[in-house]
Amino acid sequence: MIVLGIETSCDETAAAVVDDQRHIRASIVLSQLDEHRPFGGIVPEVAARAHLAHLDGVIGQAMATAAVSFSDLDGVAVTGGPGLIGGVIVGVMTAKAIAAVHDRPFLAVNHLEAHALTPRLTDAIDFPYLLLLVSGGHCQLLVVEGVGRYRRLGTTIDDAVGEAFDKVAKMLDLGYPGGPAVERAALDGDPARFDLPRPMRGRPGCHFSFSGLKTAVKHRADAFAGRPNRQDIADLCASFQAAAADALVDRTRNALKLMGEEYPHATRLVVAGGVAANQALRERLAALAGADGYRLVAPPLDLCTDNGAMIAWAGVERLALGLVDTLDFAPRPRWPLDPAAPAVAFAGVKA
Ligand code: KG4
Ligand code: ZN
Repeated sequence: MIVLGIETSCDETAAAVVDDQRHIRASIVLSQLDEHRPFGGIVPEVAARAHLAHLDGVIGQAMATAAVSFSDLDGVAVTGGPGLIGGVIVGVMTAKAIAAVHDRPFLAVNHLEAHALTPRLTDAIDFPYLLLLVSGGHCQLLVVEGVGRYRRLGTTIDDAVGEAFDKVAKMLDLGYPGGPAVERAALDGDPARFDLPRPMRGRPGCHFSFSGLKTAVKHRADAFAGRPNRQDIADLCASFQAAAADALVDRTRNALKLMGEEYPHATRLVVAGGVAANQALRERLAALAGADGYRLVAPPLDLCTDNGAMIAWAGVERLALGLVDTLDFAPRPRWPLDPAAPAVAFAGVKA
């Protein structure tokens, strides 16, 4: 089974060809960093236009690298949401056109599901597992029970952790995207120099909050007399990263407990999404998992951030179960993995 996967929901234009033997035959990721850098963040309209300009070429390159033709495909998978709707529309329309012209099954994939299933592509792990999904738009703890079966244990009541990384980078003029820049700066920093809040730590449950931490970093940054020097920046980044990791670890510890009560034989903690690229966080999570009899599974860096291979793989998984979509599928700006999960309270919670 060979599936083409297309990803255009954020600022990467990506296409990949993946088969059911877990072989990534091609994976092309075109980053729009240069287009968005002047704005210090992603501009949805700029992103949509860039996807439109580049997607055909990226798909062509993936098909050529994989040395397959459209008629060889068993399915065409695309991110159907959630994401920046202009970009999602570009991807969905393109995928539908390919599927219609070549009479191939069409698969609309939830972007979060694709992140969630990536460790089955890279490590062939079995259900169920606990997933910490950390990206620029999401911060959730989910029990992954099967394809299409996700139970949310916790989510953020304000910012996503990746968003906090990006904003801290912006405050400190480290450029965009922020996560890798903050991690790099933190390498030379003292994580104990600044005493920053650990939002939600010690509270019951698995929800997250990052806006108070972000504000605390802002106050520290503003308090530097004049421009902060290199060491100040490194120390503040290291302190922020340590606080964010502490918060994530604390919530994940609670989730592992809940997971253990329900699935005593589960052994895998998975971290996925762009922030999963962070090495310091991986180390902390690996230690947490190990202490609880779990093993941490973290996809390779290029499969943590947005890519087409994860979409193609989710397509393979869905196709194997006969979960194909019709061509009247409408792109979705929002698409929760666990629609039954209650909305969280935004008011009255302080970090
Ligand atoms: O999954 P992703 O590529 O796109 C979304 O779906 O959001 O995640 C992007 C996010 C950004 O906020 C970026 O700053 C963050 O992941 N990120 C990192 C690192 N690499 C990317 N955050 C912390 N450390 C990193 N090394
Ligand atoms: Zn993503």
